[in-house]
Amino acid sequence: MSNKADIIVGIQWGDEGKGRIVDLYAENYDVVARFGGGDNAGHQIKAGEVDIALRIVPSGVLNPHTELFIGGGTVVSPAGLLEEIERLAAIGVDVSRIKISDRAHVVLSYHAAADRAGERARGSNAIGTTGRGIGPAYVDKVARSGVTFADFASPVTLEKKIRLKYAERQEAIAGEALASEDELVSSTLDAARRLAPHIVDGVEFLHQKFENDKRVLIEGAQGSLLDVGYGTYPYVTSSHTIAGGACTGLGIGPTAVGRVIGVVKAYCTRVGAGPFPSELHGELGDRLRAAGGEFGTVTGRPRRCGWFDAVAGRYAVRLNGLSAVAVTKLDVLSGFERIGIVTGYRLGGRPAGFGSAGEDGLELEVEEMEGWAEPIGEVRRIADLPAAAQRYVERIAEVLGAPVELVSVGRERTQLAR
Ligand code: IMP
Repeated sequence: MSNKADIIVGIQWGDEGKGRIVDLYAENYDVVARFGGGDNAGHQIKAGEVDIALRIVPSGVLNPHTELFIGGGTVVSPAGLLEEIERLAAIGVDVSRIKISDRAHVVLSYHAAADRAGERARGSNAIGTTGRGIGPAYVDKVARSGVTFADFASPVTLEKKIRLKYAERQEAIAGEALASEDELVSSTLDAARRLAPHIVDGVEFLHQKFENDKRVLIEGAQGSLLDVGYGTYPYVTSSHTIAGGACTGLGIGPTAVGRVIGVVKAYCTRVGAGPFPSELHGELGDRLRAAGGEFGTVTGRPRRCGWFDAVAGRYAVRLNGLSAVAVTKLDVLSGFERIGIVTGYRLGGRPAGFGSAGEDGLELEVEEMEGWAEPIGEVRRIADLPAAAQRYVERIAEVLGAPVELVSVGRERTQLAR
């Protein structure tokens, strides 16, 4: 295997703007592959009049030559995928490039119902999931009772499995509105027929690419701090979102991986419940939310906003073994007189690490940096940013211990400074 695959991951709580960064890098790759998560993700790319919101299809979609691979570590709603394929076809995308691994797991309406019922049962401890059934689908996978896209090849097996799971799930979904068992069977059998041209032997597909010297870009979903093992558990998603998850999610070894690029927003946001030490309550938080348009792409929920957190950032750099960083949404900070960076945590008077993020009594060390007034949307070179903005970017690189190779300065795909 001569070509290494490169990985792009978010290093905060998701919504770092990975989609447009993947879109940019995708130009130089033959395949863009998703390795985990499902349609809980919402990746957005804006190119002139085209404003695409992607849920599960990889963000290489605007590059006509790239193949788009949904890997075995994902959990995918057939109805959602079909809807996305139709939406993309309607704007002229060649959707025959979209392939899904036979190892990926199927998310069905009873998973979404179980997700909602689970959240209701948690009451005030609710996670604030996207309600898409992601957690329950991964539960079925690990319990060895999930439905996979390989099952789509056999209508008899598929029907049997759905009927069995539907019955088993009754208790978990009591009280939730749900299509009848017969309706679910017939809509899934129909989806299986329509998705058949897209389903491939995922291991064969991807390894053939490597063996034919094709270049593979791997796209993460959600952010490192939502990783099921290393995030702010239990306020996390149900998959491994860190770079290591790419190996298991795609069935490749660590030796197949080249660079790992971390996408980091110039400030922090989080949607859903859970620890967020640098969160700003009140006017500054509201101002960040309004300036950054911080409302969820999947659920429309207002995102919690706060300063850039270097403690969380360094933790994520370690988890992912980053080669470099792309900073997004720097333009949102134009006009802030002072910009904070959380550089340290203290607990009981002692320095503390990210593991203490959820502890009561956590104190923050905040460094205040001078802001800049100018809009920066037209800047294309990092060296041409206003001096204060350059200093801010340099400081991010310094506290993370990783070079910044790209800065986004607006929503358009061309608004990038290098
Ligand atoms: P789930 O992935 O729907 O189970 O939700 C679990 C947690 O992950 C919740 O806090 C969600 O808000 C969060 N989450 C899931 N997907 C994303 C995403 O793409 N961006 C940001 N947060 C997400």
